[in-house]
Amino acid sequence: MEQVRVGIIGVGSIATGVHIPQLLKVKEAKITAICDIDEARLQKAGEELAIPAAKRYVNYMDLINDEEVDAVEVCTPNYLHVPISVAVLKAGKHLNVEKPLSIDYESVKPLEEALKECDLDKQIAMTCFSYRFRPAVRYAKWIIEQGMLGQIVNASVEYLKDSAFVAGRRLEWRFVKELAGTGVLGDLGVHLIDMTRLLLGDFKSLTGHTEILVKERLKLDGSEMGKVETDDYCSFIALLENDVTANFTISRCAIGEKNTIRYDIYGTEGVISFDLNNPDVLGVCVGKIDAEGNGMHTVQVPARFNVLQEQTFIDAILGEKKEYFPDVREAIECQKILSAIQKSDETRTWVTL
Ligand SMILES: NC(=O)c1ccc[n+]([C@@H]2O[C@H](COP(=O)([O-])OP(=O)(O)OC[C@H]3O[C@@H](n4cnc5c(N)ncnc54)[C@H](O)[C@@H]3O)[C@@H](O)[C@H]2O)c1
Repeated sequence: MEQVRVGIIGVGSIATGVHIPQLLKVKEAKITAICDIDEARLQKAGEELAIPAAKRYVNYMDLINDEEVDAVEVCTPNYLHVPISVAVLKAGKHLNVEKPLSIDYESVKPLEEALKECDLDKQIAMTCFSYRFRPAVRYAKWIIEQGMLGQIVNASVEYLKDSAFVAGRRLEWRFVKELAGTGVLGDLGVHLIDMTRLLLGDFKSLTGHTEILVKERLKLDGSEMGKVETDDYCSFIALLENDVTANFTISRCAIGEKNTIRYDIYGTEGVISFDLNNPDVLGVCVGKIDAEGNGMHTVQVPARFNVLQEQTFIDAILGEKKEYFPDVREAIECQKILSAIQKSDETRTWVTL
C-alpha cells in the first residue's frame, strides 16, 4: 500500500495532542521527520515516535527539503504559518497548516501568490479547522442542506474557556501580538467563523469589540512582568448571506468552562443546537410535530458523519477529497474576517466585507 511520508514542524501541544495520535491511526501515513527549535521537545517526540536522530530537525527548511517527506504539517505559533507554508508549497509538497492562518490579512499575501502557482487538485493545501470534523457539525450541515429548518433567521454562538486563569501562566506567544496576531479572536473565534461560513454562508458585514482582562503576565524567563497584547474576550455581531444574523461570544475568562462550544441555529421551521462537549448528539426541534409536541430533544448523530481530520488530509493526497474539505483558501477568507473584526474594534464602526 502506498504510504504518505509526513513531516511535522512544531511538536508542541497540538502536534502531540492531536496530529501525531491521529496520524498514528492512519494506515496510509508514516511520520518520517519532525522539527522543533525546542531541543527537549524535539528529542522527546523523536524518542516516542522512534524517529532517527538525522530526521529530527531544528531548522524547518531542512525538514521541508528532506526527500523522504511528501507532506508537511505546520504546528508552530501563528506568525510562522505563512512563511513555512509558502516554503512547503514551493518545494512541491502537500500542506496541512494550523489555524489561524496568520497574524493579519496583510501577511497572508505571499501565500496567496504561492497558491497561484499550485495545481490544488494534485498538491493538497489544507487548514486544520478541526471542528468541521465533529460529527454534530457535519450532521447540522446536512440537516440545513435538506432545508429542514426552513429559512434560517439567526444563530447564537459561544466558545468559552477559563484558560486566562490558569495559575502561573506566563507571557507565552499567545499573549504577544506580533507572534499571535490576536488572542481568543483568532485562536478560538476563527473556528466559529469557519463553522459559520460552512453552515450558514459568508459574512457580509460585522461589528466587534475585544477586551484584555489580565493585563500583565510574568515573562517566560521569569525576569519581570510584561504586557499582555492580545484579547482575552471578544464579541461580535455579523450579518451573513440571506439576511441571517449571528451573535458570537468568545472568552478565555469563563470560569468553569474548559473548552465549550455552543451553537444554536434558528430557522422558520426548526431549531438545531450543538454543544461540542457532546459532539455525537444534536439538539433538534424540527417541523410541526416537534414544535407542537416533542419540543427540543437530542438525537444521536448517525455514524456516517464520523470523519478524522488527519485521515481527511491523507485521503486528499491519495486522490479522495472528502465533503467539506477545509481548503487553505477557506482559511484566507477567515483571516479577512478576523482583520475586519479588528478594524471594527479599532474604529468602533460596522465593517463591510
Ligand atoms: N486546530 C485546533 O483546534 C488547534 C488547537 C490548539 C492549537 N492550534 C494551533 O496550533 C498552533 C500551535 O499551537 P500549540 O498550542 O501547539 O503551541 P505550542 O507552543 O504548544 O507549540 C508550538 C511549537 O512550535 C515550536 N516552534 C516555535 N518556533 C519554531 C520554529 N521556528 N521551527 C520549529 N518549531 C518551532 C515551539 O517550540 C513549540 O514546540 C497554533 O497556531 C495554534 O493556534 C490549533
